Amino acid sequence: KKRIVSGVQPTGSVHLGNYLGAIKNWVSLQNTYETLFFIVDLHAITLPYEAQQLAIATRTTAAIYLACGVDTSKASVFVQSHVRAHAELMWLLSSATPIGWLNKMIQFKEKSRKAGDENVGAALLTYPVLMASDILLYQSDLVPVGEDQKQHLEMTRDLAERVNYLYGGRKWKKLGGRGGAIFKVPEPLIPPAGARVMSLTDGLSKMSKSAPSEQSRINLLDPKDVIVNKIKRCKTDSFPGLEFDNPERPECNNLLSVYQIITGKTKEEVTQECRDMNWGTFKPLLTDALIHHLHPIQVRYKEIISDSAYLDKVLVEGAAKASSIADATLNNVYQAMGFLRR
Ligand code: TYM
Repeated sequence: KKRIVSGVQPTGSVHLGNYLGAIKNWVSLQNTYETLFFIVDLHAITLPYEAQQLAIATRTTAAIYLACGVDTSKASVFVQSHVRAHAELMWLLSSATPIGWLNKMIQFKEKSRKAGDENVGAALLTYPVLMASDILLYQSDLVPVGEDQKQHLEMTRDLAERVNYLYGGRKWKKLGGRGGAIFKVPEPLIPPAGARVMSLTDGLSKMSKSAPSEQSRINLLDPKDVIVNKIKRCKTDSFPGLEFDNPERPECNNLLSVYQIITGKTKEEVTQECRDMNWGTFKPLLTDALIHHLHPIQVRYKEIISDSAYLDKVLVEGAAKASSIADATLNNVYQAMGFLRR
């Protein structure tokens, strides 16, 4: 079976973008692939954060995975920091990562600009090396993510190839090493729809956990009245009818796309259904579809988060399974890089 890994940061609340861009797809992939889904708590400390909130947000995020349908009889769910190999491999990979690659990362540029100089720690720059470790440790074939992670995935691929060349390829063979690939080179898996869910208040910027306005996103755990309110007040336009793919109507395209995915309809069906509608007709339709879709997730979430023994067990088992795979890769990397064996 091909192997898939992916994760979400436990910062702020999980929103519709995380769900449609990533988690919802994990749920369908777990039937066909061997899957490991982690909560990337080590990534969540790359910007100033509240230490008292981290453990809570980590549990919440794990419970959300399960509530969305990640099934622990098929997938391993674990906390990144519980598998020590992630941080350890990151150090080894850092030595093979040209700093120029990191300086080029769009997310680094955006996040560091917003955070201001005194809040930018070294980890914000080296963050993609940790992400590469998350993926390469498991010899992953595919990584289902939203559009915004594409550049990080490209860097992961480059890094895998570079390490394979430096320590596993021809060069190492010449020096008497055993040669061969150390890492599998993974592919991103970006969904055709939902890969870039936009803000409710601005159709040109993506929905994000860090945007200051709560109004800009739908959180998976938003109660019914909050969803009603957010959709009622979300940005629209004054063109007649509704349509996909008009560059002058980014909000319209976004809301129709969200409606399409959560109802499971095709783009053609939604085009037919909504072409002659106005916002006053469409908004209640979208609101109902969202509530209808999120309600069962929220019910399951409440059950899971209140059963802490169950959640602990899932995370302990997930970490044990993940460690056994990760440790094998890590030992191999130490050996290939020439470290004295213990
Ligand atoms: P994070 O926590 O920012 O986002 C988690 C997932 O949600 C996707 N996503 C979106 N998709 C569509 N529309 C949006 N508006 C939107 N916002 C977020 C992201 O693309 C992502 O798939 N660095 C990663 C986490 C990570 C990871 C990994 C992922 C760490 N290590 C290894 C895969 C494999 C991040 O910060 O995602």
